[in-house]
Amino acid sequence: MNKCSKNAVLSIDGKTYDLPIITGTEGDKALDISKLLQETGYMTLDTGYKNTGSCTSSITYLDGNKGILRYRGYAIEELAEKCLFIEVAYLLIHGHLPNKTEFDDFKYLLRRFALLHEDMIHFFDHFPPNAQPMSILSVMVNSLCNYYPEMSDDPLENINMTATRLISKIRTIAAFSYKKSLGHPLVYPRPDLNYCGNFLNMMFDKPVYPYDVRPEVVSALNKLLILHADHEQNCSTSTVRLVGSAGVNLYSSISAGINALWGPLHGGANEAVIEMLEMIHADGNNFKKYIDKAKDKSDPFKLSGFGHRVYKTFDPRGQIIQEACDDLLTMLNISDPLLDIARQLEEIALNDDYFIERNLFPNVDFYSGIIYRAIGIPTNMFTVMFALGRLPGWIAQWKEQQEDPRTKIGRPRQVFTGEVSRKFVPLDER
Ligand code: SDX
Repeated sequence: MNKCSKNAVLSIDGKTYDLPIITGTEGDKALDISKLLQETGYMTLDTGYKNTGSCTSSITYLDGNKGILRYRGYAIEELAEKCLFIEVAYLLIHGHLPNKTEFDDFKYLLRRFALLHEDMIHFFDHFPPNAQPMSILSVMVNSLCNYYPEMSDDPLENINMTATRLISKIRTIAAFSYKKSLGHPLVYPRPDLNYCGNFLNMMFDKPVYPYDVRPEVVSALNKLLILHADHEQNCSTSTVRLVGSAGVNLYSSISAGINALWGPLHGGANEAVIEMLEMIHADGNNFKKYIDKAKDKSDPFKLSGFGHRVYKTFDPRGQIIQEACDDLLTMLNISDPLLDIARQLEEIALNDDYFIERNLFPNVDFYSGIIYRAIGIPTNMFTVMFALGRLPGWIAQWKEQQEDPRTKIGRPRQVFTGEVSRKFVPLDER
């Protein structure tokens, strides 16, 4: 638990103020400024919250300098190698890895909740054919609160059922939206398939061409979902917390997180990476042109999949995904020219002073799209896949906040830079 060890001293206009120093269990330190404005009349300003902690949390730990990522104290490398995604989902939400009974109960509920209310299936008929999958996902997830209103009373009363229902149904929503976009018949979940196998089957099975649920593809998807499962107070998780802090139900808080994740600077980067690699490929693999564009301050182009707010050495997830990428493409005997381009781009960037000086390395999104392509996921659903993985983390963070008695509605302040008081002038005198 965080503890207040000693104070920092702030001196303003000849007066000094004590700021408690909070130390986390990993030695991370913070100045508690919760009384700063009322005691000093000063607030802080930190655009993009680069230096600001919004909460204490015991769910995920990142060390950006050492490339460390742990969920509830377990190293991401070990979880990705040895766990099923639903084990990790349980770990994030409940704080411990499930024992056999807990795991079997969880699997039973995931199977029981896999279907959508048949009325909800008609929603898909009213999206335009080219509707964006992330838009559909946020609408459908938000609509679940109308079919399962029990959260409106006591948010925590049914949290475990609600969490399990959401983790199961988001998979069905994603697959059904894909089938609808193709005009194909929906494929319903099967009780004999596991979480990832069922998703793949709902996505790709067809009446005339039965889908072969290959263990190596299930394993690759399982690993990808684990690697995306949580990441501390990133943009979308902070959105889920902020919306939840107003007392909004879990479904609608998650729907807000889905929309935040959609941004190309955040979860939308995995789609943008593939579009960037295809653009470089179409432009005769003219790497230098795009590296120069990324370095040109007057050019808004950035290397998608590069850089990270926290990781300043390497993103451990990127390394695991790159290995999984090699393994899967070898097993499926696929040679994707975009993988070669990605590797060459990485090689060039990592030897360029601009990227070295700014600690810009491939992040989780740089190689994930190559795997999704190999599995057969359409590019416009890559960020949906990110949301499927991130869902347990969002739920765990929302639940942690709801359970914290110190939680207050999130309401940041501002430094006003507009017009000072002006005399009103009636229209006919302006
Ligand atoms: C995710 O927060 C999380 O944990 C997110 C995430 C998660 O799991 O939830 O890890 C998932 O969102 C990964 C990031 C995916 N986004 C991208 O790959 C988009 C490309 N990356 C950049 O837009 C950027 O690196 C960010 C958004 C990821 C981080 O931006 P920051 O921390 O605000 O850093 P910055 O923009 O201030 O950049 C610092 C410098 C700037 O140059 P200078 O002004 O110092 O000269 O680095 C440059 C930037 O211009 N820079 C880049 C770059 N990323 C940063 N230049 C070229 N290409 C890039 N990709």
